[in-house]
Amino acid sequence: MGLKEVSSDYTVSLHYDRRLYRQDIEGSIAHARMLAKQEIIEHADASAIVDGLSRIREDIESNEFPWRPEHEDIHMNIELRLHELIGEPALKLHTARSRNDQVALDMRMYMKEIISETLNALHGLRRSLVQLADDNTEVVMPGYTHLQRAQPVLFAHHMLAYFEMFGRDQLRFQQAYERADVMPLGSGALAGLPYPLDREFVRRELGFAQISDNSMDAVSDRDFMLDFLSAASICAMHISRFAEELVLWSTDEFDFVRLSDDYTTGSSIMPQKRNPDFAEIARGKTGRVYGNLFGLLTILKGLPLTYNRDLQEDKEGLFDTVDTLIPTLTIFADMLSKMSLNKTRLLDAAQGSYVLATDIADYLVSQGVPFREAHRIVSALSQDLAAQGRQFHELTLEEYKKSSPFFDADVLKITVESSVSARNVPGGTSFESVSGAIIAAKAQLEGKNRA
Ligand code: ARG
Repeated sequence: MGLKEVSSDYTVSLHYDRRLYRQDIEGSIAHARMLAKQEIIEHADASAIVDGLSRIREDIESNEFPWRPEHEDIHMNIELRLHELIGEPALKLHTARSRNDQVALDMRMYMKEIISETLNALHGLRRSLVQLADDNTEVVMPGYTHLQRAQPVLFAHHMLAYFEMFGRDQLRFQQAYERADVMPLGSGALAGLPYPLDREFVRRELGFAQISDNSMDAVSDRDFMLDFLSAASICAMHISRFAEELVLWSTDEFDFVRLSDDYTTGSSIMPQKRNPDFAEIARGKTGRVYGNLFGLLTILKGLPLTYNRDLQEDKEGLFDTVDTLIPTLTIFADMLSKMSLNKTRLLDAAQGSYVLATDIADYLVSQGVPFREAHRIVSALSQDLAAQGRQFHELTLEEYKKSSPFFDADVLKITVESSVSARNVPGGTSFESVSGAIIAAKAQLEGKNRA
């Protein structure tokens, strides 16, 4: 490539900002109507503009639009084409507008749409989680700390932990929506405009909650994109933690779940393998989602007010996050609905590894033994058992009594189920508390928290 080609391509954004064609056209239609209403342009000119723009929208959607990269961006492509189609009136569309407030408007309209889509996808994922919990209310599994088996928990409780995380993500996306819901048109290049504009009219036409309060901020602010990108990063982090668990759980070593064939692939060389590719790729894609957040933070750092062309670089990373996150959420919702549990294996794992040790220590506490002392007794007991390759439930009462006279027949009633049932605090893993949580989760999904 010679200097001539590289430098003429260098500033072009059309290949990615053409995604904004609908927003650009809708924004221009509202602007033209307002100009006519305020008698800044003729009504006939505004009608010609609106008709021409509608025709352009149809041409783009039927792939008949003559895209011209030499016109740099989506805004110029549409405006120059409008001139070809309707002539003179097209030259009046850009009255009282700058590409700086125009692109800010387009991006805000785009963000609102995309955040609504994200919220829908997130809602679908949360629905799958609740369904999975509800279908498996009796399944006990080991809960982990330090990736060591710690205490028995309900599988449903584990799923609802993710329901909570994605619920906070939902709130963050709703807040990002509110930040985006501000109409910047009327700010001009930076200082406002010397025309009798009706900004409120444009706001209403385009369905925004409010108009921007400061023209300099309005053309240089990209915080609303950062809000989305950071909510997306946190959400991707949650997905990635979950993906990691699914990868682990579907190994022969864990063997807790089986992912549907739709979401695993065979190895090209090892016939027995069913690799959890979708979960792995989701975990991997978290990197680019974080990267896009850092990309925009870095673009904005040190930018003087107001608009600078650097801001054109705000879009590709954002679009990439959109194209990454929404499919990931949609895939996870379906992957979970098709995942099957190895319940016997989950129960065996919950019964192994002395996960009842805390309960047995708590039992001694109920018999009047101070907790630290109870801890010491049960710790010694589980080490003995481990040396003999035995489990708590294989111990006789006599054997228990040898380690402490405070043990009584009731200790034999401690099982993973009794351990789970005992944790009946609000937010705990008891059957009762988790059924309550499932009911609450369903109500939340039905309720007005809906996007
Ligand atoms: N393509 C530009 C962007 O995305 C549009 C605004 C251009 N404004 C300007 N003064 N050159 O930011």
